[in-house]
Amino acid sequence: MSATRTLVVVAHPDLATSRITARLADAVGDLEHVTVHDIAAAGPGGRVDVAREQQLLRDHDRIVWLFPWHWYSVPGVLKSWIDQVLTYGFAYGADGTALHGKTLQLVTSTGGPADSYAADGFNRFTLAQLLTPLDATAHLTGMRLAEPFALFGARTVSDEDLSVHAKTFRALLED
Ligand SMILES: Cc1cc2nc3c(=O)[nH]c(=O)nc-3n(C[C@H](O)[C@H](O)[C@H](O)COP(=O)(O)O)c2cc1C
Repeated sequence: MSATRTLVVVAHPDLATSRITARLADAVGDLEHVTVHDIAAAGPGGRVDVAREQQLLRDHDRIVWLFPWHWYSVPGVLKSWIDQVLTYGFAYGADGTALHGKTLQLVTSTGGPADSYAADGFNRFTLAQLLTPLDATAHLTGMRLAEPFALFGARTVSDEDLSVHAKTFRALLED
């Protein structure tokens, strides 16, 4: 069986300063069935080439959104990309079936430690609860939401633990 054609949408406002997101993007770049696509290098004013992005989505069966957790949500660069690319008639609406049957894999990292993402923790909600808008987005667009893959405590993670995390991420995309 051949591996799943996978598009990794890398959404970091400043990838040159990234430790986690950049490392994860690097960890899968050489996989033959994986396309790593940096969306921060978008056109002037954050405008993306919608037709090109939509074609990339059509050409892959598993879509990964790889992003740092910013203000309890996706970074602005990913929100802007979603707003522009997941259009009516493409991603939703009567004829908007282009994403139906694909898998959406969310991959993120948070500054807060794991125990802060709990009802009795500093952030008051679990990451799964905070991800519900993206769960709803997957549902509306006919995509199956895979179990999110998250790294907590990004600012203090050791090089060893980051290395293990990157290997686990690679293994996740290997089939
Ligand atoms: C603008 C901004 C907002 C952030 N908001 C959050 C947040 O709401 N919760 C959290 O746990 N970490 C937050 N962080 C920390 C980032 O999630 C963390 O630095 C990032 O995952 C590290 O990944 P990177 O090395 O790829 O940048 C924020 C960081 C920035 C720069």
